Amino acid sequence: MITLDAIRKPVERELEAYEAFLERQFTADGDLLNEMLRHALSSRGKGVRPLLVCLSAAMNARTAGAAGGQRVSLAAMLVEMIHTASLIHDDVIDESDERRGKPSVNALWQSRKAVILGDYILARNMAIGLESGQFDLVSHICGRMATLCEGELLQDDCAAKQNTTRRSYLDIIYKKTASLLGVSASAGALAVGATRDKVTTMRRFGESLGMAFQIQDDILDYTPSAATGKPVGNDLREGKITLPLLMLLEKKDEAERKALLEQLKRCATDDKEVEALQQLVIEEGGLREAQALMQGYIAQAVRMLSEYDDSPYRSSLIHLCTFVAERNN
Ligand code: FPP
Ligand code: MG
Repeated sequence: MITLDAIRKPVERELEAYEAFLERQFTADGDLLNEMLRHALSSRGKGVRPLLVCLSAAMNARTAGAAGGQRVSLAAMLVEMIHTASLIHDDVIDESDERRGKPSVNALWQSRKAVILGDYILARNMAIGLESGQFDLVSHICGRMATLCEGELLQDDCAAKQNTTRRSYLDIIYKKTASLLGVSASAGALAVGATRDKVTTMRRFGESLGMAFQIQDDILDYTPSAATGKPVGNDLREGKITLPLLMLLEKKDEAERKALLEQLKRCATDDKEVEALQQLVIEEGGLREAQALMQGYIAQAVRMLSEYDDSPYRSSLIHLCTFVAERNN
């Protein structure tokens, strides 16, 4: 499988410029805040969002090198730090002690401080954006933060009521994940002055990729060998009905569905039930069916790129689609 390093190669310089920009801009006052911020910055993940910003910017730039400018670094920082803050808050909500193989912020400093760190990151992010004077980018990116909150709340409500349907599931993953990937890809195009049509195409590309990304994330939660750095089976423990289980529920009659939902409730306190339900979902083809739907979104994303001439950036975006579909972390 193609590696992320190979996918990053055509925009290596742009990514370095973004990293340096982030280091320069994102500082904190006070020892504790600084220590917490360092932890958050050093446990960032694969950097898919900044990568999307840079590849999209390079592919849409009218002149070579235009994607190395400050607007691109700023856009990459804005999306990545929204993502970072949202995961800090997500781990508080899920009471999760681990993120990317490291202790979560709430595990190290307790939830009350983790909430403040997430807020601080969002506040600093917004301030840096506004001080830059690049209001089109700030409004394009930060204007969509509310969507993530809508997705998270809907997910929480559906888990509590056990009433997730395919429609609400797709709505949740669009809001909590796909929207920000759409924003990332379109922000790259916007940062280099692409036309409105191209910005829209890139948004659609990122959103389709984002739907696939979250479905794969939900599949990995069922895969014991996953090298995700997150405990497997968390979704079931949290009572979340994601696509693999939904595929099963959709095939069952009322009584069987009720029994499965009762079993899901027991997963909150019983790891044996988690294993049994995972096994059932795998045996009955839930993962296979979820994969098929995910591949549909990948194909949709790749189709959006047909408007562009061949280039190393376009190739990397296509490889990124394959990577998302095949990733195990
Ligand atoms: C991870 O999903 C969570 C998200 C993608 C969104 C989280 C959003 C919020 C907490 C709302 C607050 C928003 C902002 C902007 C601060 P997951 O739980 O499926 O993945 P995981 O298994 O990695 O935890
Ligand atoms: Mg979570």
